[in-house]
Amino acid sequence: MTLPIVAYGANILRKTAADIAADYPGLDKLIADMWETMYYSNGVGLAAPQINKDVRLFVVDSAQIFEHQEADEKGTYPDEPGIKKVFINAHVVSLEGEDWVYNEGCLSIPKIREDVVRPQEVTLEYLDEHFQPHTETFIGLTGRIIQHEYDHIDGKLFIDYLKPLRRKMLQGRLADISKGKVQVDYKMLFPK
Ligand code: NI
Repeated sequence: MTLPIVAYGANILRKTAADIAADYPGLDKLIADMWETMYYSNGVGLAAPQINKDVRLFVVDSAQIFEHQEADEKGTYPDEPGIKKVFINAHVVSLEGEDWVYNEGCLSIPKIREDVVRPQEVTLEYLDEHFQPHTETFIGLTGRIIQHEYDHIDGKLFIDYLKPLRRKMLQGRLADISKGKVQVDYKMLFPK
């Protein structure tokens, strides 16, 4: 089942989400619905607050990016062939490496893409969908997407990284999104 995606301006996108227990009701169905919603809206990651659930859960599929790369783009990123993973109760252990710029977008902030500076590497402690613990370091596009999705469970958005002037220039478009004045081909939930 595809779920509506919460639009910019909703309070849930600004909250620190809580860890969940293994008996969290309907977890398997929730994860399946998040995958379906993410693919339907052509996303590479989706975090639970974006589907109106205040919990530390996100899904990432960077493998699809590499699958769809042109031959001349191969070898551009160090994390080829990417990953497809569920992250539960993730907590960042460290951020390391040189900062780099990448043009990011977000399903909750449609039609706005901006260059965002983030470090190369992120190390996380997290549980997989079977509640098995992992500590793992991610780099490249995968590390990038994970940092973006992780921010969602801590109430942060990619626009928070923009310079104040740039952010100010986007104010009108952001206000339009929060009022529902945006055309997207997936279902969205706008703040009341
Ligand atoms: Ni996002």
